[in-house]
Amino acid sequence: MDSLYLDHNASAPLRREAYEAMRPWLEKRQANASSLHKAGQAARAAIESVRDGAAKALGAWPEEIFFTSGATEACNLALLAAVEDGRWALCFSQAEHPAVLQTAAALAAKGCAVKALRVTPQGSVDLEHLRAELKASPGAVLACMHANNETGSLNPIEEIARSAHQGGGLFFCDITQSLAKTPLDLHALDIDLAAASAHKFGGPQGVGILFKRRSLRLAARLFGGGQEQGLRPGTENLPGIVGMGAALEAGLSGLATQARAWSEAREHLALGLKRLWPQALIHGGDAVLANTLSVSFLGLEKDTLLMKLDQMGLQASAGSACAAGASQPSHVLEAMGVGPAAMNSVIRFSFGAAQGPQEAAEALKRIGQALADLRSAGLIPA
Ligand SMILES: Cc1ncc(COP(=O)(O)O)c(C=O)c1O
Repeated sequence: MDSLYLDHNASAPLRREAYEAMRPWLEKRQANASSLHKAGQAARAAIESVRDGAAKALGAWPEEIFFTSGATEACNLALLAAVEDGRWALCFSQAEHPAVLQTAAALAAKGCAVKALRVTPQGSVDLEHLRAELKASPGAVLACMHANNETGSLNPIEEIARSAHQGGGLFFCDITQSLAKTPLDLHALDIDLAAASAHKFGGPQGVGILFKRRSLRLAARLFGGGQEQGLRPGTENLPGIVGMGAALEAGLSGLATQARAWSEAREHLALGLKRLWPQALIHGGDAVLANTLSVSFLGLEKDTLLMKLDQMGLQASAGSACAAGASQPSHVLEAMGVGPAAMNSVIRFSFGAAQGPQEAAEALKRIGQALADLRSAGLIPA
């Protein structure tokens, strides 16, 4: 049976365009982009061309784009530097990725004031609580993701940026799940700092982007050869950066059509699941990423269904990959007030490039068969 991969929020397969763009650099053209010979200059030109493309795609200036090893590094670097360079206070949504939550914990251990912001039952940050806390900590750094990796819930970024800046604060936005899935203009959204990872949109793993508004000065946390304006020194991951650039370009071209196909697929899957399992509970409210469907199969145990689906060639996950690997309850659903029964039966389906209603229909077929098999094996009630 063909594999049906619906776990793109964990990691998307490498896009053909990214592979083709990386190949020459992996096979024979690798050189240090800081070298002055022709090969070095070609490497530098390739990196700067990706920087230009990424800046254009994000509504930013090229000098505002810094290449990192991924979103985790970008989140750490942005928050450690922004908070420790004189602000000393951080407010963050409880639904953030561990890359933000654990950085907040590290800052708290160093004596910084950190405050977790409540999340609504729909999974977006509680705006009233956010405003109240920002009022109490003027000038704080605010960390609030654009789209949640587990539920797809979207935060109202413009409104959040306005609140952050009203008290003279800074706004950090984790755009890891929304980049190349929904249009983004970082300047128009008034974002000061942002983080993303290439493998979420079909680039290679281990490479990502830190965006830093050019008027903002941050002190480095790593020291070395001065690359990336000294903020992120170390020889650049040339093939990785080139692959990321190609994946970003491919992901953004035809995004409107792709997003419509995801929306249709999501709706089709949600309706079909309700028919197959009437107790199904969809998470995330109305403002969600088109490619993500988080659903609790109340009365079922998530690992039983996930394993059965995997045997049938359908790969999905129980919330985030990290939480699933560690088999821990989801902190995101917990923050949304979701109870243990729903938490223990949650499965996330996330669509990727070139997928749409056809994949949703195939998924429904396999899920229906999986439920029938589990029923006849006596593993779920008849
Ligand atoms: C919202 C979000 N932020 C940050 C990360 C971290 O990305 P990486 O593991 O590629 O550094 C992820 C990955 O799951 C994510 O979904």
